[in-house]
Amino acid sequence: MDKEELKREILNLKREKNAAILAHYYQIDDIQEIADIRGDSLALAIEAAKLDTEIIVFCGVKFMAETAKVLCPDRKVLIPEIESVCPLADMATKEEVLKKKEKLGNPVVVSYVNTNVDVKTVSDICCTSANAVNVVRSVEEKRVLFVPDRNLGSYVKEQLPEKEVILWDGYCPVHEEYSIEKLEKLKKEHPEAKIAVHPESPKAVRDAADFIGSTSGIINYVNNTDAGEFIIGTEEGILYELRLNNPDKRFYIIGNSSVCTNMKKITLESLYKALKEEVYEISLDKSTIELAKKPIERMISIKRS
Ligand code: 13P
Ligand code: SF4
Repeated sequence: MDKEELKREILNLKREKNAAILAHYYQIDDIQEIADIRGDSLALAIEAAKLDTEIIVFCGVKFMAETAKVLCPDRKVLIPEIESVCPLADMATKEEVLKKKEKLGNPVVVSYVNTNVDVKTVSDICCTSANAVNVVRSVEEKRVLFVPDRNLGSYVKEQLPEKEVILWDGYCPVHEEYSIEKLEKLKKEHPEAKIAVHPESPKAVRDAADFIGSTSGIINYVNNTDAGEFIIGTEEGILYELRLNNPDKRFYIIGNSSVCTNMKKITLESLYKALKEEVYEISLDKSTIELAKKPIERMISIKRS
């Protein structure tokens, strides 16, 4: 099947099977194009919970599909590529979190949504990059163990000097690649460009930015900023939405290219197979769902930053 046929077949199968396709902004353009909902990890979690289709096909990494399953336990949640995982999420295990928490005298555990579901079961509240500051501000306790992204955690810490934020030593291998040297090189080539970066970026890069925010935060910033050029510090899948909304603006990715290979494992072929064969199903036991639901729902009740 050629690409257009494949897209038509996917949409037919989706209708036949009463399914919805959710896609993160880092997915390949063809998948973003045919998705019912595109979004950042917070929006996709919230929208998944509102869907009434029998099947949810989650085009993103595994922790995102798990979050959808926790919020919609009665629905069949599929991920087209079981190997589409987030290396940042794999940098913290439930056992390590429990050990560190005990060693630190039981601080509140705030876990980034980029964690595997078992870490969520031992977390007090979750956050995404869109609401992390508001989430940490919302907890009564002063001491917070922030798991697992040290860059997002240090960004939160800078915004909330009244809190004692204890950082985990995890990082996103994609955003960690950005350096002030790469950014300055681009800025020299495009001196008029505004700089918008994701908070998973290192501090030196964040400090040089005009705007720091989640993928949807960056999209809103670009949509609402009257400039012709932007230097973008996040995965290049975001360019699909940026160009769709701003055909006359120009975009430069820090390092010229930035790819999350795990997000890119999902293809039109694997999405077609997912719908046809109803694979790969996310299945979680009841107690995991019950325990992980609390910090996720607590997060959803907090507004975005
Ligand atoms: P957002 O929550 O900003 O969509 O980011 C998710 C992610 O994986 C960032 O690398
Ligand atoms: Fe994980 Fe980084 Fe990929 Fe986001 S970009 S899914 S944090 S590896």
